[in-house]
Amino acid sequence: MEISGRTKLCCLIGDPVEHSLSPVMHNAAFKELHLDFVYLAFTVRKDELRNAIAGARSLQVHGLNVTMPHKTAIMKHLDEIDPTAKSIGAINTILNAEGRLVGYITDGVGAVKALNENGVSLKGKKMLLLGAGGAAKAIAYHAAQEVEELKILNRTAQKAKELAEALHKKFDKRISGNSLSSATLKKELEDADILVNATSVGMHPNVDQSLVDSSWLRPDLCVMDIIYNPLETKLAKDAKSVGAKVISGIEMLIYQGVASFEIWTNHPAPVKVMKEAVLNKLSKLGVPG
Ligand code: ATR
Repeated sequence: MEISGRTKLCCLIGDPVEHSLSPVMHNAAFKELHLDFVYLAFTVRKDELRNAIAGARSLQVHGLNVTMPHKTAIMKHLDEIDPTAKSIGAINTILNAEGRLVGYITDGVGAVKALNENGVSLKGKKMLLLGAGGAAKAIAYHAAQEVEELKILNRTAQKAKELAEALHKKFDKRISGNSLSSATLKKELEDADILVNATSVGMHPNVDQSLVDSSWLRPDLCVMDIIYNPLETKLAKDAKSVGAKVISGIEMLIYQGVASFEIWTNHPAPVKVMKEAVLNKLSKLGVPG
């Protein structure tokens, strides 16, 4: 790919960004479609956020991804926020639409698309969501629009209850929040069709941890873990061993990237190429399967 005076810049801002998979994922996609775009990652400290966004405007950066710790703080610097992102209170994608910076969140869309593209429809299903942090919130907002029933369990019960209440008001569906304990999890799992782990339990280096006892898992359950380091968490391994359908965290990562890519380029994203680029990078980084 030849960089020219017309090349459009998309970039990631956050702190830290060194190990981000987004540059390889998006540059592989731009190359595949011969798009005159390039993607870079910039470390932006909290106290530099205002300057960074002013700089992005001046330099007419075409698109941005925003990651920790700026996903909420950046919102006040934008010209427009997508209504879903506003409800969630965070953005991860910005489009520079002829000088107007518009914020979106693609995490929830990414999670739902990861399920759909792997043959799991949410219509008429009961979903059990573990966690009520940033990622869980984004997933809950999108999943709530499609599922029959959503139950949210979180270590800090109040967060699960507040999220459930807000979603119930908005979508008028059966949505409840409760504390996350062995007892509540075991009980709620009994009649769930889809289990999503959106907590950090099982993430490297705690690869032997899982919130779910393997004896509670069933072959007719679909399990998605949003963790991708390791590529296969203990929960995913346990679910696979009972014959449940398993969707790995890498799928959500790819599909949130796909959604951002499509916002910036207006082209259908080359999903396969993006996935290969990410898996390749992860193996170079030594992330275990
Ligand atoms: P993210 O943006 O990745 O969602 P986060 O907002 O920090 O990150 O959320 C992390 C989630 O993992 C939260 O739901 C957190 O529960 P609390 O809200 O009670 O903090 C959950 N979590 C982290 N460690 C946990 C543990 N040991 N057991 C249960 N839940 C845990």
